Amino acid sequence: MNLTVALTGASGALFGRELLSALASDPRVTHVDFIPSEASLRVLAEELGIGGRSDLLAKLLPPSGDTEKFRQHSENDIGAGPASGSYPSTGMIVLPCSMGTLAGIANGMASNLIERAADVALKERRPLILCVRETPLNKIHLRNMTLAADAGATIFPVIPSYYYHPGSLEDAARQFVFRVLTHVGLSQPGAYQWKAE
Ligand SMILES: Cc1cc2nc3c(=O)[nH]c(=O)nc-3n(C[C@H](O)[C@H](O)[C@H](O)COP(=O)(O)O)c2cc1C
Repeated sequence: MNLTVALTGASGALFGRELLSALASDPRVTHVDFIPSEASLRVLAEELGIGGRSDLLAKLLPPSGDTEKFRQHSENDIGAGPASGSYPSTGMIVLPCSMGTLAGIANGMASNLIERAADVALKERRPLILCVRETPLNKIHLRNMTLAADAGATIFPVIPSYYYHPGSLEDAARQFVFRVLTHVGLSQPGAYQWKAE
């Protein structure tokens, strides 16, 4: 699998980090194109104390993770692989997805690499998962989610579950990420499964 992962400037950088960690340790994933937006760098600094653009992956990934398969792109690099439909991508996950990036994707703006890669995923009929995060939602947000869903995206709000009694924020984020990955055919060994009595 060759996945494109974008982090944008919505709250929830922890969820993005858990996603990258899961992909690092999954041998089925051979390549990850990683696109952090400029705004995501600010949120990473605010929420995780991770600063700067250089060595970002090394700061985000666990020491044991396979960093070789990751390739980081600037959101301004509109000539990077994921910008083209002929590039062999399996799908794209935006986690977390800001309302700004949602708007850009839903309206086909393609004004940076994240929006363009998402546009490509939709036109090539590949999975596009938008893990949106905002609260409360205004009607523009709601309309944009409907637009994106109608175009083929999966709206996957960053809302953890509580029925498995997560022991920490990391635990809640990890289980959320496992649900996202199950959605693209990458079910994870530690994923909680509901067992009805
Ligand atoms: C600490 C912090 C938290 C933010 N949280 C959100 C959020 O949860 N949802 C959202 O849509 N925007 C949020 N924003 C605002 C976005 O970062 C801003 O709209 C930005 O322009 C989005 O750009 P991007 O989509 O290119 O990443 C937050 C900003 C900061 C600094």
